[in-house]
Parts: sequence; C-alpha cells; structure tokens
Amino acid sequence: MSPSIVQSNGHSNGHTATNGHATNGSQSTPLPAKPTHANTSDGFSTRAIHIGSEHSSETGAVIPPISLSTTYAQSAVGVHKGFEYTRSLNPNRDSLERMLAGLETNGGKALAFASGSATTATILQALGTGAHVLSINDVYGGTFRYMSKVASQLQGLETTFVDFDSATDEEVLASIRPNTKLIWIETPTNPTLRLPPIAHITSLIHSLPAASRPLIAIDSTFLSPFYVSPLSAPISADLAVHSITKYINGHSDVLMGAVILPNASTAEANGNKDTIDALYARLQFLQNAHGAVPGAFDAWLALRGAKTLSLRMKEHGRSAIKLARFLLAHPLVKEVIYPGLAEHPGHNSAAKILAPHARKFVDEWVLADEAKEGNERKGKGDFPFGGMVSFRIGRAGELADEGAAERFLTRTRLFTLAESLGGVESLAELPEKMTHGSIPPAERLALGITPDLVRLSVGVEDIDDLIADVEQALSWAVEGWNSTSTSVASSDSE
Ligand SMILES: Cc1ncc(COP(=O)(O)O)c(C=O)c1O
Repeated sequence: MSPSIVQSNGHSNGHTATNGHATNGSQSTPLPAKPTHANTSDGFSTRAIHIGSEHSSETGAVIPPISLSTTYAQSAVGVHKGFEYTRSLNPNRDSLERMLAGLETNGGKALAFASGSATTATILQALGTGAHVLSINDVYGGTFRYMSKVASQLQGLETTFVDFDSATDEEVLASIRPNTKLIWIETPTNPTLRLPPIAHITSLIHSLPAASRPLIAIDSTFLSPFYVSPLSAPISADLAVHSITKYINGHSDVLMGAVILPNASTAEANGNKDTIDALYARLQFLQNAHGAVPGAFDAWLALRGAKTLSLRMKEHGRSAIKLARFLLAHPLVKEVIYPGLAEHPGHNSAAKILAPHARKFVDEWVLADEAKEGNERKGKGDFPFGGMVSFRIGRAGELADEGAAERFLTRTRLFTLAESLGGVESLAELPEKMTHGSIPPAERLALGITPDLVRLSVGVEDIDDLIADVEQALSWAVEGWNSTSTSVASSDSE
C-alpha cells in the first residue's frame, strides 16, 4: 500500500469539483485547480490541523472517521483502495503518519509504532547484526535497557555511551568504528535536562564521508516537533524519534511512538538518499513483520491531540519558565534545571537549535518580557524551552534532607505524583526511585540523579495555581512537616 494512494483519492474529488467550476465559468481560460488541502509550506499549526485530516470524499466529514475494520475488501485479487490488512496499514495510521511527516520540518515519511520503546527497538533492529552505536550517556532508561540488555544479546549490538558535554571532537571521532552505524542523542536528557552542543556534534559527524558516516537519530520526545526540528539545519539528523505518548498526543491517554525520515531533497543534500530510502523500506518491513503498531483509535486520538501541539507547547514553555524563575528565587530550592534559564550550561545550545516557528514564538516572548519592569522582569536572556523543569529541594549549603523530595511529592495538590510527562495536567516524580530506579546507584549518582532531585512536567493549568501549589508543598516538605507532626503529636496527647 502506498499512503499516496489514499491522499490522491481524497484530493482528486476536490479537483473534480474545481474542474466543473472552470467549465461553467470562463470559456477560454480554465481557472487554476483548487489548491490541495494543506502542504508542507504551510505554518506549523496549519500543518498539524490539516495534513492527514482531509475531508472525507465519501461523506464530507471534516474529522476523519475511525476505521476499525481489520481487513479491507478487494475488487479483484490484489486490487484495493490502498489498504489490505490493518497491521500493514489502516486509514487512521496513514493519516497520522502523513501528519507527523508533514509536521517535522524537512520530514518525508513517518512510521508509527505501538510505543516510543517499540520505535527505538525497531530502529536498532534495522541496523542488523554486529553493529556499533554511539549513544549519549544519560539516555532514556528504556533505551539504555534495550541497547545494553536486549540488542547486545540478540543482535550483538555494541554501544559506547559518550558524555557529549565533555568529550572533545577527537574523542568523539576516535569512538567511531568501521561498524558504527548510528549516533543516538536525546534533546534534552532526562531528568537532568542536559543539552550538549548538538549542532556541533552533528556537524562533526556530517564532516565524515557521506557514504560511510553513521546515521544520526535524535530522540526529541521532550521538545516535540514544536521546539526543535531535528531533520533540518543546524542539526540535520537522519531520524527524528518521538514517544508520542508524551507531548504530541498530549493528553496522557495514548501509548505510541514514531520515527520520521527526511524528504528526498533533504536526504539528497545530506548525500545519503539511497541509504534513507533503504532504511525506510527496512523499517516499514519490520513494522509490519513485528506488528507492534498502534490501533486505529489510538492513531485517531494522537492525530487529534497533535492539532493543538503548538498551543500547548507555547503554554507549557511560558509556564515552565515562570515556574523555573520562581524556584530559582526560592530559599528552599538548591538548584533549578531548565535549559531556557540563562544560567543553564546548555542555554546557548538550546537557543541555537530552536525550530524557526519556535524561534518566532520565543522572540515575541522575549520582547514582551523585556517590556516588563522592576520585579516582574527577572532573568535576562531566559526563554521558554519546553515544559520540563527539574530542581533540587533544600536550603543551599545545608546537608541534603533525604526525605524532603518525597514529602514534597505527597503534598502537592495539582502536580500529580506519577511517571510520564507531556500531558495537559502537571505531573511530578522522584527520578531516583521512580523513572530511573533501575539504574545502578553509582551510575545514577554520577548522572546527578540524587534523592533531592524532583522532576516536574509543567502542564497547562493556570500558572498562578501551579506556583501556589509548589510553594505550599515546598514549605511544608522542608520545614512545615516538623511543626505539623509536633502539632499532631500534641493534639494526639490531648
Ligand atoms: C525520551 C524518551 N524516549 C522514549 C521513551 C519511550 O516511550 P514509550 O513510553 O512511549 O515507550 C520515553 C518514555 O518515557 C522517553 O522519555
């Protein structure tokens, strides 16, 4: 099945109407054909709302119907409307994949999987046996697990975990072997939100001969296609990877992942079009062979969720920077980690890799921020950069209070204590015991995942409510709980 068959079916009806119109109007010069519904030169939100959501040619439905059928009728053997069996493709997954490809700047084709983890596994499997991968060292725990505990055993995959923040160019180049097939980077890392000089690293990899250079994959889950466009300059990666479970779907009700590959002209410019074509064919083959695909309803939900991605990402960013500034000024907080803060070590890297549509939003935000006066205007150079904020609880200079983070997490009213991120509702967690609990303690410590580290996924509730929630939980967790327990004790004794 080729997704283009479906697309052309949808569009051809529109053209028929236009043709009719032309014959009724001028006798000599036919009117130009009606433009197609949406295309990749439209703005980010336009693409999110329209690509993949073409009106139904059958009923005129503005929202694509959910096609739950597992199989599709053929008018003769092998003659069908582009769909045979739902594992290979169904109309909703096709809509979603086209939208995802259209949403990613320079995107060509997308493939959706049953989870972000299934996406990662399939990409690594596509490398075949005996390959070597260079991965950022504090990669998502599930990716680390798959590389070091599954692919290593099942396909002999070797992975070198590199600290791209501190590695010199020589060290990076020296870690590349003849069988290095892939460079795997996350933007930013989880939960310490490190942002190595990604554009510099990818340009270093691009300086290698195109025929032999490893592919570059960026797991851009934390930023979504709104803040960063991995397939375009200055990153120019070969694969953009997302856990759709997070921001793209955005409502904490779908588990899904996707990979997006560059369009033909981008791959041509990168000098590896044949490799990208072959990789897409291999990934599509594995997608069908494994069957780890999203169902029609989930694809429909994710398509709907992505329509508001831009609105949500802007609000997540505006609220996150406000909360980060609040935490920065708070006496019961030791450290705030948010790449949009001017003091974050990856701040320049963040500014450099902003997607053009995000840059426009950020520039407008900075102008408005600069117009503020007095106390309202806080850090110079800050800007919104996603919705994830991490912080270390406690007074600067005092010994870590091991229980403070856990107390904070049980005291919040609006921040729900839960894993995951990227939904409209705010979440908070303790990486040391939750998302990163399976990493050996020494490694966890080396990565800065300490017992006082709290990770927040800042939702799109009213920011004043979120700040008030954090404020009350902070003061209770660090100092209030003692007096509370005293007063409880005293009331007990009455
Ligand atoms: C950065 C990153 N990549 C991939 C994944 C895996 O995604 P999923 O949970 O959809 O399998 C996650 C999940 O938290 C993640 O944070």
